[in-house]
Amino acid sequence: MNVEEFYDSISKEYADLLDRTIPRYREMLSTLFHYIPDDFAPKNILELGCGTGNLTEQIIHRYPASMLTVVDLSSEMIEACRSRFKSINSISYDQTDFRNLKYEGNSFDLVISSISIHHIADSDKQLLFDKVYSFIKPNGVFTFADQCKGSTTEIYQKHMDAWKREAFKLGSTGEDWNIWMDHQERHDFHAAAEDQLIWLTDASFKNIDIVWRNLLWTVFYAEKSK
Ligand SMILES: C[S@@+](CC[C@H](N)C(=O)[O-])C[C@H]1O[C@@H](n2cnc3c(N)ncnc32)[C@H](O)[C@@H]1O
Repeated sequence: MNVEEFYDSISKEYADLLDRTIPRYREMLSTLFHYIPDDFAPKNILELGCGTGNLTEQIIHRYPASMLTVVDLSSEMIEACRSRFKSINSISYDQTDFRNLKYEGNSFDLVISSISIHHIADSDKQLLFDKVYSFIKPNGVFTFADQCKGSTTEIYQKHMDAWKREAFKLGSTGEDWNIWMDHQERHDFHAAAEDQLIWLTDASFKNIDIVWRNLLWTVFYAEKSK
């Protein structure tokens, strides 16, 4: 099963599975907005990896007047998102692989994403950061939450052990955990947060930092210069 088929197959139970698998998931989503200036009024927003629309919902809530483009590889995820927001006509749906994104330069004020970019290989992440930089308007913001490796193999293992303990506290079963680990082995390319900071710098972003972290989950924030 490839990544598209995996997400197609779990789209219906996805929200529940996530809530019992990812510790502090909702808190992480809200943190994505914490460093965006209060007077920031994005006309055009791009969301990478909408899934069933958990972050989409928060974007719409915070920026109801913006035009929003959401991207996802999985047709079932895109359909779940479309049906969730069927009454909202300011959303465009783009079923595309992150590696094939094509938008005009300077198209978006904000590019935002949660737990999606780790599905592409590290070299593709670097190319994506370069592309995102070109898609963003001057003064625009790129912020994303993702699962990262530890800075060493030992720390990574500690993150994984702690994650398993937390997931079981949230109500995950052994079966949930096995589904997630099988998925991780096949489709996840965790990169160290330190490397991603370097790649953001290489892509020419400024004011780059990690603004929240819990175990593997890390929220990055970066701006494009004037
Ligand atoms: C873990 S889900 C996250 C969804 C949502 N952002 C959330 O927080 O619930 C990851 C999403 O990324 C999408 N995805 C995975 N690889 C992709 C790729 N190469 N290009 C575009 N989307 C991809 C999957 O289909 C899935 O919907």
